[in-house]
Amino acid sequence: MSSSPLPPPLQQQRHPGYEEERLRRVAEQLPCREVQAGMLLSLMGEPQQYSLPCIFIYGHRASGKSYVVNVLLKELELPHATISCAECITAALLFEQVLLALFGGDAAATLPRYPSLSDFVRIYRHHRSRAPAEQTRYIVLEKAELLRDMDANLLSVLVRLQELVEDNLTVLLLSELVWDTFRPNTGCLEPLPLHFPDYTKAELHQILSRDRHPSYSADLYASYIHILLGIFYAVCRDLRELRHLAALNFTKFCEPVTEGKAKESDTHKLWRNIEPHLKKAMQTVYLREVSSLEWEKMQQVETETGPLRGLSAHTHVELPFYSKFLLIAAYLASYNPARTDKRFFVKHHGKIKKTKFLKKNEKTSNHLLGPKPFPLDRLLAIFYSVVDSRVAPTASIFSQISSLVTLQLLTQVSHVDQLDAPKYKCAVSMDFICAVSRTVNFDIIKYLYDFL
Ligand SMILES: Nc1ncnc2c1ncn2[C@@H]1O[C@H](COP(=O)(O)OP(=O)(O)OP(=O)(O)O)[C@@H](O)[C@H]1O
Ligand SMILES: [Mg+2]
Repeated sequence: MSSSPLPPPLQQQRHPGYEEERLRRVAEQLPCREVQAGMLLSLMGEPQQYSLPCIFIYGHRASGKSYVVNVLLKELELPHATISCAECITAALLFEQVLLALFGGDAAATLPRYPSLSDFVRIYRHHRSRAPAEQTRYIVLEKAELLRDMDANLLSVLVRLQELVEDNLTVLLLSELVWDTFRPNTGCLEPLPLHFPDYTKAELHQILSRDRHPSYSADLYASYIHILLGIFYAVCRDLRELRHLAALNFTKFCEPVTEGKAKESDTHKLWRNIEPHLKKAMQTVYLREVSSLEWEKMQQVETETGPLRGLSAHTHVELPFYSKFLLIAAYLASYNPARTDKRFFVKHHGKIKKTKFLKKNEKTSNHLLGPKPFPLDRLLAIFYSVVDSRVAPTASIFSQISSLVTLQLLTQVSHVDQLDAPKYKCAVSMDFICAVSRTVNFDIIKYLYDFL
């Protein structure tokens, strides 16, 4: 635990110009972000005063950047335009959204079809002279890192927009990246950076515990979150994901209580009941492979038919058709000895002596030893043999291989200096590949040497 004393509640910090009641409401909604919200409020200053031209807010995913900014701007009723750079893919769309939010539809309609930066500045100036700012206007740009891919000057203009349009205006850039990765090589005005650190485990506990279920006590929910974090914190610190997991598994946690088998205070019993369930859910963290409803159904099937092979056997990541075959071919190449390829994949392979083919020690051990590396040409040879229809070796096949590497379903194992002869390993489990094979009606077991 850090020894720094807690900051006073927001409404007790000095933020003149804002109603105390509103500050109280803001503070109520922003647990564990008092410091950042307070800092931001100090930077914003009184509403009618000019503020900084640009503030750069950065921190990891789900560290509350958007949330804090939105709560502040909404509760304090400050004029603002919130724009996601992922949605506004061109500068024109961005200008339109800004004008629309700050000055209304008429202003947005005056933009020419392909507006330049100076068109935007001109129209903005025109409208602000008709409606001068009584309080600071804010432009919030989410996923600001995408601005770097737009017009080269856009970023440098946005950080000094206040000066260009001569308005009481502040631009808030929100991003997961640090400012160093933004700085254009032509140089530009430096915005003021404001960091949002990751939530600690205790903070996550505090935030998540507030979502308590109305029909159960707050203590029960808090102890549930405690168990949940105990299991998931090691692999996932994303507040959004944890919240999703918490909602998904809470009914299961309460089951013994609703069925009358345990009291709310029997924490140990409840823990024993939920722990195996949560461990299983761990396999799907971030994937969102299943909806809450599907998940429940699967659990039901499982209790009726006894435990099955774990979640990944039921679900699969959705892959393109040929990628599935590529992955299957990679699996076969990783787990079959190369000398058996002829027997499996050549249609008229002639006679191969059974004794020679089956080496005693080798059999059944391949899966225990783990995947072996294989060269690209072997992968392709097996691939063309298992795909029934003919496919030409196109660039798309190669790009699908690299996508599989990116998805970490395949791993590239050759040294960097062997550019011409890349080697791969298949990185998926037996359950996974069986599930994938089933979706394309391919009986993979028949082709695995270990299961012959
Ligand atoms: N202090 C908090 N109290 C309650 N809920 C919070 C808090 N911080 C974040 N959240 C919730 O967590 C979720 C993620 O937060 P937010 O969208 O602000 O993350 P972000 O930092 O903008 O992430 P990204 O970089 O992915 O945009 C939101 O649904 C938000 O409501
Ligand atoms: Mg955000």
